[in-house]
Amino acid sequence: MYDTMEALRRECLNCQKCPLAQTRTNVVFGVGVEDAEVLLIGEGPGEQEDLRGEPFVGRGGQLLEKYLAAIDLSREKNTYIANMVKCRPPKNRDPLPEEMEACLPYLRNQTAILRPKIIVCLGRIAAQKLISPNFRVTKEHGQWFQRNGVWMMGTFHPAALLRNPRNKPDALEDFQSLREKIHEVCTHTY
Ligand code: URA
Ligand code: SF4
Repeated sequence: MYDTMEALRRECLNCQKCPLAQTRTNVVFGVGVEDAEVLLIGEGPGEQEDLRGEPFVGRGGQLLEKYLAAIDLSREKNTYIANMVKCRPPKNRDPLPEEMEACLPYLRNQTAILRPKIIVCLGRIAAQKLISPNFRVTKEHGQWFQRNGVWMMGTFHPAALLRNPRNKPDALEDFQSLREKIHEVCTHTY
C-alpha cells in the first residue's frame, strides 16, 4: 500500500501484473483532485484513453463531462476518475475477471488514499464488481447502496448512452440524485 497518489502512480505506470501490459500504449492511472469526495469508476481505457494516458477523453468522455458539468463537478475541481483496469483491453473487449483481480489493488489503494464519501460506478462492469455481482444497470441505476461506510450508485456507461440515447434522461436523473447525495454527505465538494 502506498500513502500518496504520486507514489502509487509511479508503481502503476510500470505494472506488468497482467497480460494487458503487453498491448497497452499507456497506463491510464486516473485523474482528478486528491481531496475528492466523489470517485467515478469506469471499466477500462478505450483507444483515445490508451493513446493519451487519461481516462474518459474520447466521445464517451465528452458525454460524461456534460453530465458532470450539469451538477458542477469536474476532474479539475472536485472529483476523481479511474477505471477497473488501468490498461486497454484489445479492441475494447470487456476486461477478463483475472485482469480485474490483478488490477484491483491499485483501485483499492486509490480509494484508501482518497477516502471518498461517494463512489459512482459507470456501467455494469464496475457496478457488478463493486456493488453486487448481479447488478442490472437498467433496473438498479440511480439506487444508493452503502458499502464500508461509502455511498455507492451505479449508472449507465457513457458509451452505452451513445449507443442507446433513450437512456439519457434516466442518466441525467441519476446525476441529479448524485448532486442531492453530495449535498447530504459531502463537506467540501461544492
Ligand atoms: N470507457 C471507460 O470505461 N473508461 C475510460 O476511461 C474510457 C472509456
Ligand atoms: Fe497492471 Fe492493471 Fe495494467 Fe494489468 S491492467 S498490467 S494489472 S496496471
